[in-house]
Amino acid sequence: MCGIIGYCGPRPAAALLAEGLKRLEHKGYDSAGLATADGGTLTVVKRKGKIAGLLEILPPDLGGSYGIAHTRWATHGEVSDINAHPHVNCAGDIAVVHNGIIENFTALKEKLQSEGHVFRSETDTEVIPHLISSFYEGDLEGAVKKTLPLLTGTYGLVCVHAREPDRLVGARNGSPMLLGVGDDEMFIASDLTAIVTHTKQVVYLEDGEVVVATPRGYHTTDMRNRVVDKKVEFVGWELEAIEKEGFSHFMEKEIFEQPQSILRAMQGRIDHENSTARLGGLNMTNRELLDVERVKIIAAGTSYHAGLLASYLMEMVARVPCSAELASELRYRNPIVERDALYFAVSQSGETVDTLYAMRELQRKGARVLGICNAVGSTIPRESDGGVYIHSGPEIAIASTKAFTSQMTVFYLFTLLVARMRNMSIEGGKEFIENLGRLPDLVQTVFGQKEHIRRLAKKYCRYKDFLFLGRGLNYPVALEGALKLKEVSYVHAEGYSAAELKHGPIALINDETPCVFLVPDDALRGKVVSNMKEVKARSGRVIAVCVEGDQEVMDVADDVIPIPKVGELMYPFMMVVPLQLFAYHTALELGRDVDQPRNLTKSVTVE
Ligand code: M6R
Repeated sequence: MCGIIGYCGPRPAAALLAEGLKRLEHKGYDSAGLATADGGTLTVVKRKGKIAGLLEILPPDLGGSYGIAHTRWATHGEVSDINAHPHVNCAGDIAVVHNGIIENFTALKEKLQSEGHVFRSETDTEVIPHLISSFYEGDLEGAVKKTLPLLTGTYGLVCVHAREPDRLVGARNGSPMLLGVGDDEMFIASDLTAIVTHTKQVVYLEDGEVVVATPRGYHTTDMRNRVVDKKVEFVGWELEAIEKEGFSHFMEKEIFEQPQSILRAMQGRIDHENSTARLGGLNMTNRELLDVERVKIIAAGTSYHAGLLASYLMEMVARVPCSAELASELRYRNPIVERDALYFAVSQSGETVDTLYAMRELQRKGARVLGICNAVGSTIPRESDGGVYIHSGPEIAIASTKAFTSQMTVFYLFTLLVARMRNMSIEGGKEFIENLGRLPDLVQTVFGQKEHIRRLAKKYCRYKDFLFLGRGLNYPVALEGALKLKEVSYVHAEGYSAAELKHGPIALINDETPCVFLVPDDALRGKVVSNMKEVKARSGRVIAVCVEGDQEVMDVADDVIPIPKVGELMYPFMMVVPLQLFAYHTALELGRDVDQPRNLTKSVTVE
C-alpha cells in the first residue's frame, strides 16, 4: 500500500532515503516524508504530492546517519502535509512510519489525549509514537514491544529515537517488512525495490516479529521477547529490473518485456521427454494431483482475470471442473471447502489482503491452497501450501501487464500437467508445448503494430465510453482490456462476453461508444462477427483485433488490429498485448500519469 524505508550506517541517511522513496513511489504517491536524526535532534520533512515535491524542500545539508521515510496512499485522514508520515510524539524525539491500519486508534487516541498528549494529524498512525513515548524509559525496543500488543489492526512499521543513534526498530503484523543486510549498514523496508541497489541479502519478517538493526548487526524477536533465528536470503534481481532502461514508462517497458517474461515463466518447467510440465513447487505427488476433482481460483483485479481465463482453459483442455472467484467475495460468504478441490491464490504482489485473507480462511477450513505469485518471499507464497512463482521480475507500473501473461503461462503449464495425467495424449502434449514455445516470438510480432495502435489511440481517445467484447478464452481478455483502459486513461470501459451484448449493453450503442471486439479464428468467430454487425447496424464504431487477412472482419470493422494466426488456445496472449498498448497510448494521448494513475497503488494491503 504505502512504501517504507529506514536506514542506518556510515552514509548520509537523507540521500539514501530519498533514493529509496523514488523506488517506492509506485506503492503510494499522494504524499511523502522522511525523518533523520543528527546530534540528538530529529528533523522531519514531509509534503503532500509526489516525491519530487518533497525533494524540492529537502534541506541540502540535512544531516544524520539514520532515519526513516514513507510514501503514502491515504487511508485515514485527507491527503495533506500534516497527515503525511513520519509521525512524531509530543516531544518530537520519536518518529514512526507505518503501513496498514490501526483499527482501535480512536479509543487509543482519546485515552492518550486525556493523559495530555497533543495530536497533530487525523491519522491512525499518530497514536503509535505517542504510545511509544508513554512507555519510553531509555529503551526504544522495549517501549515498542509494550506498544504493539495494544494495537488492533495491521502494521508494518519502523521507528527511531533521536537519542538512540543508528538504531532502527521495525515490526510486522499483516503488512510486509524486510531487513536488508549491507556492509556495516542496515535497511528496513516494506519492499525489495527500495533497497536492492544497496544489498541483495534480505531477512523477511513474519507477523508478530520485531527487528532491531544497527550498522553492526541486528536481532529479531517475537513480541514476548523470545529470540527468533532468521535466515538471510539472497535476492537474484539485477539493477536493470527496476530501471526504465530507455523506455518512457515502466508500463511500456513491462509490455515490451513480455516475450522474455513469458519465456522465464516456462523455463525449466517443460518436460519434453514426457510431453508434460514440471512444477515441483506444487508439493504434490502425481497421485494427489490425480485425486483433484475440481480446481478453484481466487484473486483480485488482473490476477482474477488470469484465473478466469484459467478456468476456461482447465475445463477445455484438462476436463477438470474449474472456477474463479473474486477473493474479496469468497472470504465473506463462509465458503464451502470441498475435500477433493485444489485451490489457487493468484497474486502478482503476493500481498493483496483480499486474496491473502481469503486464502487463510480456506486454509482454516482445511483447504490446500497453492500460490501463483510474482514477488518472491511475499506473504502468499510463504503461507500457501506450495505453488509456482511466475518469475516476471519486478513489476513497477501500477497497471499489471507482464504479470498477467506470466500468470497465464503458469496456468497453461499446470493445465498441461493435469491434462497429460488424464485425457491428453503424448502427441497432444507435444503440440501444446510447441504452441507454448512459439509464444515469445509471436508476442514479439504484435509489437510491430505499435505505431498503428498509437494512431488508433489518438483517433479514439476523445470517446468517453468503451465496450470490450470477447468470447470463451477471450472473454477474460476483454475484461482485462477494459480494466487496463480504465485504470491508466480514466476512460470508462466495460468488458463483456460478446454474447451478452444483446442482453442489455446494446442499449448503449451509438456512434459515441466504440466497441473493441476480440475476433480469433476459433469456433465462436462467426458468432462474434454477427455481434459486430449488430453494433454496426446501430451506428456503432468497431475496432476489431482479428487474425491478419480476415477480410470479413476488415469489411465490417471501422479499424482492425491484425495479429498472426496461432493455435486456438494461444489467442489470449496475442489479444491482450494490443489492448495493453491501446490503453497505454490512450493514457499518453490524454496526458495521464501512466505509471502512477490517480487513486491507485501497486499492492492493496488494506480492505
Ligand atoms: O498483486 P495482485 O495481483 O494481487 O493485485 C491484484 C490487483 O490489485 C491488481 O491486479 C490491480 O487490479 C492492478 N492495478 C491491475 O492492473
